Amino acid sequence: MPIADNRRDENPHKRAASVPVSAIILAAGQGVRMRSALPKVLHPLGGCTLLEHVHRAATAVDDARVVIVYGHGGGIVPATLAHLDAIWVEQAEQLGTGHAVAQALPAIGEADVALILYGDVPLIGAATLRNLVAAARTTGFGLLSVVLDEPFGYGRVLRDPDGRIRRIVEHKDASPAELAVREVNTGIMAVDAARLRRWIAGLDRNNAQGEYYLTDVVAMAVAEGVEVRALLAAQVAEVMGVNDRVQLADLERRYQLDQAEHLMRAGVTLRDPARLDVRGDLKAGRDVVIDVNVVVEGTVSIGEGTSIGPNVYLRDVEIGPGVVVLANCVLEGAVIGANSRIGPFARVRPDSVLGADVHIGNFVEIKKSIVAERSKINHLAYVGDTDVGTDTNIGAGTITCNYDGAHKHRTVIGNDVFIGSDAQLVAPVTVGDGATIGAGTTLVSDAPAGKLTVGRARQVTVEGWQRPSKQRK
Ligand code: UD1
Ligand code: MG
Repeated sequence: MPIADNRRDENPHKRAASVPVSAIILAAGQGVRMRSALPKVLHPLGGCTLLEHVHRAATAVDDARVVIVYGHGGGIVPATLAHLDAIWVEQAEQLGTGHAVAQALPAIGEADVALILYGDVPLIGAATLRNLVAAARTTGFGLLSVVLDEPFGYGRVLRDPDGRIRRIVEHKDASPAELAVREVNTGIMAVDAARLRRWIAGLDRNNAQGEYYLTDVVAMAVAEGVEVRALLAAQVAEVMGVNDRVQLADLERRYQLDQAEHLMRAGVTLRDPARLDVRGDLKAGRDVVIDVNVVVEGTVSIGEGTSIGPNVYLRDVEIGPGVVVLANCVLEGAVIGANSRIGPFARVRPDSVLGADVHIGNFVEIKKSIVAERSKINHLAYVGDTDVGTDTNIGAGTITCNYDGAHKHRTVIGNDVFIGSDAQLVAPVTVGDGATIGAGTTLVSDAPAGKLTVGRARQVTVEGWQRPSKQRK
């Protein structure tokens, strides 16, 4: 089947400045098959909503302006995604894709190229869209098609014997011969806006579904001698839509494998590329090693040579080079200094900054604290709202009592401090440089620098004491 080769197009950037792009994202459909209280386009994929993925791809095309068509009662969509740079247009009644586009046209410029996208086709790539826009700048009409082994349900792209596109016929309107065509309409197209406006105004509902079909504009273009140039999607996943949760999960996997491949090509070892989930942005240096079942959310960076153990959750964390994160750690909103060693089973909570060569061991929780270079908190401790100096050792079972039931207070621990096991530091309290705190101490006032402070009942041994024994009857 002859399909125009998109590499034949002129340089897509050449006339970019003269013909602006307006993207129209169709997102008014009900999404019934999701069986969800949430509108379909708000379901997440890779940590952001389907609609945000499409918006990102659109804005990457010559800085396109974006118009989003949302559905009746779908006010939750613009409310949830109010941060997006977009014009929101409501389509109160879903009368078809042509009708949806008609709602958006008043918001776009006469001389623009209109780039039409679907809010539920999330993996569309900016490179493909640039080629499509270039086709529209050349002929007036670029159409993204794909050849499917199972074209059931899609609109078929019909061509004349010379291979030129004539029209699109919807599945429900197609003859048996037309149903045999495997080249289908993805729905994504770029069209000269002035002509699109005219064609859309001429649509009718005389078809099997009683809808205004956007696809009918293809035949109108051909009738005016406009060449409809079809481009093939680089990857099938780019044009796959989400109709139900099975398809959503399928696209999530494809997206994750794609991210995993990028990481591996950039020099990251993944013990199993199928068992990493990146739901945000991950930047990883060379020779980072990531074990299985790691979940990354938000913005995460991992320095060169760092290794991340199995079952680790990372959210908005900056991890330096040469760090070892052992199994089952949760690190959120924190900075981890170079060559530190974390875990296993450690939790570092937001607003924590760990310096270089810090050790945080098993069952240790750090919250809103600074731990300076070479300090160690190796076992079973809670350190919250605390500043820890350099070369300090905090013993097993130590707890900073930072909360009095109403307010949080800070604990300040100096450099080269030794805190014995099972100490409680009742904040606000300060431990001076070089101080030693005896095991079991409940510290309620400041401990001076360079001295041993102990606060516990003196041990006694009771002479002559006898353990009670049971009397035989
Ligand atoms: C449409 C195309 C078909 C193509 C298929 C690809 C038409 C007439 N048909 O069919 O050629 O093969 O997509 O998936 O265009 N939408 C609105 N408002 C409406 C109707 C739809 O915003 O009134 C949105 C939907 O939310 C969806 C997109 O437009 O994102 C496509 O709608 P859908 O009903 O899935 O179209 P299909 O019948 O699948
Ligand atoms: Mg559809």
